[in-house]
Amino acid sequence: MDNSEIKKRLNSINWNFDFTIDYGGDALHPFNCRRYYSYPATFIPEIPYAMIEILSQKGDVVLDPFGGIGTTFIQSLSLERIPYSCDINPVATNVCKTLYMLFDPSINKEIIREQLLQLCEGYDETKDYTTGLSTQRKELSGWFEKSTFNEISFLFYKFDHLQDKVVQNVMKLILSSILVTLSSQNKGWAYIADNVKPKKDELREKPVFDQYAISTKNLMNDVIDHAHRLPSSFVAFYSKISHEPRIFENSLVNTPIESETVDLVITSPPYPRMIDYVKSQRLSFNFFNENFADYVGRETGARYRRSRRDCLTSYEQDICQINKKISDVLKPGGYFCVVLPDYDAKDLRKNVIDRIVEDYTKLGMDKVFEVGRYIPSHKRTLSIQWATLVNERIYIFQKG
Ligand SMILES: C[S@@+](CC[C@H](N)C(=O)[O-])C[C@H]1O[C@@H](n2cnc3c(N)ncnc32)[C@H](O)[C@@H]1O
Repeated sequence: MDNSEIKKRLNSINWNFDFTIDYGGDALHPFNCRRYYSYPATFIPEIPYAMIEILSQKGDVVLDPFGGIGTTFIQSLSLERIPYSCDINPVATNVCKTLYMLFDPSINKEIIREQLLQLCEGYDETKDYTTGLSTQRKELSGWFEKSTFNEISFLFYKFDHLQDKVVQNVMKLILSSILVTLSSQNKGWAYIADNVKPKKDELREKPVFDQYAISTKNLMNDVIDHAHRLPSSFVAFYSKISHEPRIFENSLVNTPIESETVDLVITSPPYPRMIDYVKSQRLSFNFFNENFADYVGRETGARYRRSRRDCLTSYEQDICQINKKISDVLKPGGYFCVVLPDYDAKDLRKNVIDRIVEDYTKLGMDKVFEVGRYIPSHKRTLSIQWATLVNERIYIFQKG
């Protein structure tokens, strides 16, 4: 397809995706990762899905250097493009790795669903399951009502004693995802990032096993449904690509992806001073027995550094360093799609973003498409400062 045809197709899309799409029948459609894990600022799956369909062919290599929970990765996989994803946050990469594992055509997903559902059985409310918890998991107690936490601790116990790797990974994703909804502090990620625990009179008993079962069925039924929609060629494709590491818990700069091997990059980097991705996953870090302090310093653009004088300069330097590597790994003629914030003129961050866009051109990439989109309004229903961004811009460049 030549660039004028590509532009015509890109222009025909309503990038707001503010309408309901009925995919119907057996047709393959985007797989919505964020239905199974609530993570800040994830892609609407239609965005990478449309870009992959228009800008690549089956068998091409697609990379997301800020891959999050794997929205680009999973659409690439579904569309039989060879996927790579990088992210410094182990909670996000865990979601991506688990979904990748669940797409394996050789595993029996119905059996996995039943095994997962059985794990709720055997709870004895007279027993205290919290006694054997690690120090990190004990720290979680302040976020939950007492009997809710005992039930969660029972599930942790079951999780620790699992033998099957796939079942254990899926249970990890599900527990990690329901910790926030079961907590009595569910006003949003920013409260968790700032370690604002619920007050004593806010503690509420929550239905742990119901929530666990709903989330398990929700995920497993959708994975099973999606597997039926994949073409028969997917079986050989998956077995061909699944031997090499594809998901890196690292910055792109420190990954072994070689020069000029990638056909298409699709990404949305962290925006400056807006979100604390690592701290927002505080509850999951405790469940994983990981210390988030080991990860916060590696995060680009974190909100908690907003009062530092050099925070925008270091953000720009970090992003430009990764951009250099993006342009290095792209094949000549390959496309680079990036979604960036569209700040209004008075915002200091606008100049930084403008320079980052100029930097792509300096790195030898030509702009082939640009369009604005608005961020759906549900994110702004609470009057929270960080959520005031209204618009984003999608840019598509081609490496010369
Ligand atoms: C806007 S989110 C991407 C979400 C992703 N598009 C999705 O749909 O899940 C930005 C991501 O960049 C990650 N990140 C921050 N600094 C990074 C770095 N230096 N290298 C790689 N990833 C980083 C954050 O952990 C976060 O997951």
